[in-house]
Amino acid sequence: MIVPTEQLLQHARQGRYAVGAFNVYTLEGVRAVVSAAEESNSPAILQILPKALELGGTALIALCLEAARTAGVPLSVHLDHCSSADTIDKALDAGVSSIMADGSGLPFDRNLAFTRRMADLAKSRGKSVEAELGRLSGSEDGMTIDRREACLTDPAQAEVFVGQTGVHALAVCIGNVHGVYHAPPLLDFERLAAIADRVGIPLVLHGTSGLPDAMITRAVALGVCKFNVNTELRSAGMDAAAAYLAGAHKPELVERMQVEVNAMRQPVLSKIGLFGSAGKAS
Ligand code: G3H
Ligand code: ZN
Repeated sequence: MIVPTEQLLQHARQGRYAVGAFNVYTLEGVRAVVSAAEESNSPAILQILPKALELGGTALIALCLEAARTAGVPLSVHLDHCSSADTIDKALDAGVSSIMADGSGLPFDRNLAFTRRMADLAKSRGKSVEAELGRLSGSEDGMTIDRREACLTDPAQAEVFVGQTGVHALAVCIGNVHGVYHAPPLLDFERLAAIADRVGIPLVLHGTSGLPDAMITRAVALGVCKFNVNTELRSAGMDAAAAYLAGAHKPELVERMQVEVNAMRQPVLSKIGLFGSAGKAS
């Protein structure tokens, strides 16, 4: 069943657990997330990056919406990391449950102005908004941010930002990194606690792939209600497909697709267990 993202995150916040938001690009990815969420009796979020939308078009959104509508657990469909007003408008038209207005690359005042404009747009359609303050380093959707350009979220600024934009969820930068962690992750949990104290809305952690289990559990305890997971799913699927094609005498497309689904289910199942959302569907 399709449920508004806002409802999923508020329920998670009251229940002190988190919901996994898994990036999908293909039917295989969608099947992997939905079947793992159903097996865990867990809510989940199917999320689409602008590059995936560019390739799949609104048909990819329609696929996710239909998969969510017919699923036996509460799911929502979210547009991830978008800094284009046109693409956000198109995705809202196509029926996504929520959007991420990504102004993290802009100076504070321009990020605030862009985010407020997108928040007003989404709210006029009855949809919710996530935004990011601070900037993660690492690679996502074909864009790489150097560590020197990254900046951590300032709790006092976060309070002003949330107050003046009216966003429903805030993505924070506390040392988390998009993609592979090339050095052992160092998360600033004091900063996370200070932000949670000041903003009073669900917090979102990007760059979940590669984070140690204990850091995820601690982040949930400190108010993170949504974890974004991409790299671990993508690489599980691609590695399994490559191994299948390398080993198959007469490769079959459907077999390869099933191999990918089975492989991508594993990180979804294990993350759902860590986030504490297993059994929370009812
Ligand atoms: O928005 C998507 C995520 O932040 C994904 O990060 O690829 O490090 O899991 P990840
Ligand atoms: Zn992200």
